[in-house]
Amino acid sequence: MQIIESVKRATSGEAVVEGEKIGSQTIEALKAFSEDEIETLVLAQGLNLFSAGTDTTSHGLALCIHHMANNRDVQEKLYNEVMDVIEENGGDQHLDYNALQKLTYMDKVIKESLRSQGISFLERKCTKDYYIPEVNFTVPKGMIVTTAGSGIMHEVCFCSSACGGLNTDFASC
Ligand code: HEM
Repeated sequence: MQIIESVKRATSGEAVVEGEKIGSQTIEALKAFSEDEIETLVLAQGLNLFSAGTDTTSHGLALCIHHMANNRDVQEKLYNEVMDVIEENGGDQHLDYNALQKLTYMDKVIKESLRSQGISFLERKCTKDYYIPEVNFTVPKGMIVTTAGSGIMHEVCFCSSACGGLNTDFASC
């Protein structure tokens, strides 16, 4: 059970205690797993990878499409950039890694879309009492701490005049 706890700690996102070697602990722990346990672990990781990868990208794409529908000038500029790169690629729509690097406006649109309405929270469990002098508060061991991702991304310095929507001059990119 201690072994499973060890791996759980390494994979659950629980903050690492200073000096703790999660990497080697995990490797040691894996050596003692039964085949059934390893199978369960691999399946769980596969499922995690699948859900972490699909939900985020589909949400990100939906946001980009939403922004393009509301900002036709952005949509037009993006379309032209894609068409130019396809033309440079000899008319082949199958762009390889190097060709994709030329889509610099696309990069900005995606980043700005994710900033404007992207990840709004990240949670961590505090593993030891931690004093924050700026606010004179001690976060107690065991408390779940949520990072205000949305608040950070909507700081005036990042979002200019378009806090709730797309900052179409891409000043923050
Ligand atoms: C726009 C797309 C994506 C966004 C915004 C995103 C965001 C994030 C964030 C914020 C975390 C950290 C969560 C936390 O530590 O509490 C994370 C972790 C993770 N993401 Fe993504 N992600 C994206 C795409 C993907 C894709 C495509 C995959 C896999 C194919 C993926 C797999 C993972 C995995 C496995 C973790 C856990 C990593 C770990 O803690 O060991 N993500 N992602």
